[in-house]
Amino acid sequence: MTGRVVVVGSANVDLVVDVPRPPKAGETILGGRLRRSPGGKGANQAVAAAWAGGADTTFVGALGEDEAADLILVSLGGAGVRTDLVERADAPTGTAFVTVSPDGENAIVVAPGANDHVRIGAAQAERIAEADVVLAQLEIPLDVVAAAAAAARPDAVLILNAAPSRELPDSLWEVVDLLVVNEHEAADLAGEPELLLKRVPAVVVTLGGEGCAVLRRDQEPLRVPGIRVDAVDTTGAGDTFCGVLAAGLAQGLDLPNAARLASAAGALAVTRPGAQEAVPTAVEVAALAVGGKAR
Ligand code: RIB
Repeated sequence: MTGRVVVVGSANVDLVVDVPRPPKAGETILGGRLRRSPGGKGANQAVAAAWAGGADTTFVGALGEDEAADLILVSLGGAGVRTDLVERADAPTGTAFVTVSPDGENAIVVAPGANDHVRIGAAQAERIAEADVVLAQLEIPLDVVAAAAAAARPDAVLILNAAPSRELPDSLWEVVDLLVVNEHEAADLAGEPELLLKRVPAVVVTLGGEGCAVLRRDQEPLRVPGIRVDAVDTTGAGDTFCGVLAAGLAQGLDLPNAARLASAAGALAVTRPGAQEAVPTAVEVAALAVGGKAR
């Protein structure tokens, strides 16, 4: 195993219901059976980096003292993610309420709980300083993301997945090496994805079933085409993309090749229900990346 990744972020128990369509404001609709599964953008990305990306991966996050925490720790541990720096907070484990429509599209509301108590202490900072790639998202407090960035080595790659999108301080924009966003997040942050290159050296815009776009300063934009799959549940597919991208970069792939692998991993993830449960193996990803049908 080569390449060290530290993922700093959220962990949630996902309460998932299949619905015939998303409910309208003020409306009650009946859904299917309730599913309870490990999620959270940070934990999902760590599982993907370890399972599908094969990197030595540490997760830095916070959980409650409850049964939901056990569910998440089992999933992280099963993927081989190092969890020794996960802390317990005096708050319930984060909970996400997820509806999934027949076309696989989801809608999510998160009650952050313990995620608001993630901390970069001395031990976390030390592990981050050993990482080749540090990956964070925005379901934890911004000052924690900034502290993680400050602990990273200058030659490490700092990836920010700006999800859910929110306004970022200049101090954070200045240290991000690679921003990963979907089209909505790109529009929230800058209007046009290309404008994001004024703030960070490289951007990957994920395009759902259409693959992704790789934008770098002073280089031609590059499109990674989507791979044709039948979508069952898109929950966490973007997280799988981010985790595999981080692992690929940590193992020395260049950005376009890491994005190709990440795109294949994301495509496989939408063919299965759940977030962490849908993360494919490295072998499955490699097979699809080589043999997958472009759209
Ligand atoms: O990106 C998908 C994730 O968003 C879910 O697992 C849910 O927990 C929310 O964090």
